[in-house]
Amino acid sequence: MKRLALLAAVAVLAVSGIAGAQQATRTGPTSPDLAHGRDVFARWCAPCHAASPRLAGTMSLAAKYEGRLPAALEDRTDLTAPVISLFVRNGVAWMPPFRPTEISNDDLAALNAYLTAPLPRRGAHAPLLADEMMQRSGAQ
Ligand code: HEC
Repeated sequence: MKRLALLAAVAVLAVSGIAGAQQATRTGPTSPDLAHGRDVFARWCAPCHAASPRLAGTMSLAAKYEGRLPAALEDRTDLTAPVISLFVRNGVAWMPPFRPTEISNDDLAALNAYLTAPLPRRGAHAPLLADEMMQRSGAQ
């Protein structure tokens, strides 16, 4: 019986270790040349695509790729500028298309640079707007 409990504990540790590896939190500063792109992402994309499992975009992409690719857009290294631009300007499913009056071509170029940069240069994940608002209101 003791042995079973020990085995169960090891199994739980192993599973949480795997989950931890998948959700690796990124730390560190964002390269200054990527800061604007990260801001654009935080404002327009993070509400659906941040590294949080209950968001519309992250949840959809988790279902679409079933773990073969990271669900959070910011953790992807396979996206290219033309692909990102196509989705941003046309939308998909319930992702709306974004007009140049919302995300200018310069903003889109900065966003593309951020989402295609090597992961260490991107620094920590962009904050979720809702979290930021809560912090600013002093609620957290
Ligand atoms: C209202 C929520 C929402 C917002 C805001 C949003 N998206 Fe999406 N996005 C989605 C959904 C839902 C999908 C479709 C997932 C699927 O195909 O199942 C998606 C898909 C994508 C894809 C395709 C990924 C793939 O591998 O299929 C890209 C790229 C993308 N979004 C980029 C962005 C960018 C960049 C922004 C910010 C400018 C953004 N999205 C804003 C909800 C959103």
